Amino acid sequence: MTNTLLIGAQWGDEGKGKIVDFLSRDADVVVRYQGGSNAGHTIEIGADRYVLHLIPSGILYPDKTCVIGNGLVVDPLALVHEIQDLEKRGILSAGRLHVSDRAHMVLSYHKALDAGRESRATRGSKIGTTQRGIGPTYADKASRTGFRMGDLLDPALPDRLRERLAEKNVLLKDMGADLIDPDTLCREIRQAADFLRPYIGDTVSLLNTAYKAGKQILFEGAQGTMLDIDFGTYPYVTSSNPTSGGACVGTGLPPRAINRVLGVIKAYTTRVGEGPFPTELMDATGEHLRQRGREFGATTGRPRRCGWFDAVVARYSAMVNGIDFWAVTKLDVLDETETIRVCTAYECDGKRYDTVPACIATLSRCRPVYTDFPGWKCSTSGITSQADLPPNAKDYVKALCDITGVPLGVLSVSPKRAGTFRIAV
Ligand code: IMP
Repeated sequence: MTNTLLIGAQWGDEGKGKIVDFLSRDADVVVRYQGGSNAGHTIEIGADRYVLHLIPSGILYPDKTCVIGNGLVVDPLALVHEIQDLEKRGILSAGRLHVSDRAHMVLSYHKALDAGRESRATRGSKIGTTQRGIGPTYADKASRTGFRMGDLLDPALPDRLRERLAEKNVLLKDMGADLIDPDTLCREIRQAADFLRPYIGDTVSLLNTAYKAGKQILFEGAQGTMLDIDFGTYPYVTSSNPTSGGACVGTGLPPRAINRVLGVIKAYTTRVGEGPFPTELMDATGEHLRQRGREFGATTGRPRRCGWFDAVVARYSAMVNGIDFWAVTKLDVLDETETIRVCTAYECDGKRYDTVPACIATLSRCRPVYTDFPGWKCSTSGITSQADLPPNAKDYVKALCDITGVPLGVLSVSPKRAGTFRIAV
């Protein structure tokens, strides 16, 4: 039994869905531990394309148990929609999906507060959130004013909701935003509760029973290390802990239950939303990566900011998460690039940085120190083993591993299932 934790090692969108899908073959249970429907994991199987926001990507295999852990914030309406979509496509059968009764609920006022804050924010204080209500829901969790999925089973929930909504509507009014109608909120939640009742339960016990029985567990991280509320580019982060530390808190499984950590890195870097991005390319090369890599948000459709691979970020991620292996994705996107740059350090005010500085003002002023690599200028997207890579591509991947001090575990050169192959995991 080897339980694997898969985390994003950059700013999210590293191609985790595809790698989870790949590793799910060997897993019995796939569990998500943080975030919410701000995530968008894209998986292509044959001619079909699936974008999952809340449900673990393992659901696409008919025999896997999938768990939405206690660390998530779940929008019940979005979850109903996602389940219904999978049912329609013949993917989801009864008894395979379990939702933690401890996971907090994203309600319509959280989304309205998120959108209201973003629309009023001035440049510099805007985060560029997905407007899925993530920040306000985690804030309520920390303030002990939230509602959990288990509350959907409480007959007194409508009264409690009305009371809380009265407070939230005051905030919305102050923002100049539309108020939420209590009857509409209660009706929507009642309908969602009726639908979701069979899915909600004690996932902490379920997961620990599976662990003790020797079942293979795959932890599916969402977002990425640089969006972590503690270790990311605060305040330009999400409100959860996508890093490996979040996996125990967000599932109720003990640290010993995690046997290895796989970090997913794209062969270049992207980020969505605001905040510093030292290797960002504002030129034709950046646009080329965006178009060739189809770098548009799976959740919001926003164009992603694109740049060179940042080894400072990758090294920092390896340290913070204890990464045992890399899964390198989207190598094929670089197929046509003449010279490929890798940032190995930053310089700021005459000082060299080998790791990510905490101070956001410093990071914003950091300039990348680059090492250049020759491109391979031929297609890698059809290959099915590392041995078939053109020499320059092999050298590039080896350099990423050498510079970051982490060996290669998985390599992916195409969005298709066949384009992902195992090196060492
Ligand atoms: P929030 O999570 O919606 O509050 O957004 C906070 C920041 O995290 C914004 O910069 C978002 O663009 C970013 N973000 C949230 N989820 C994802 C994701 O799944 N991929 C990439 N960026 C994300």
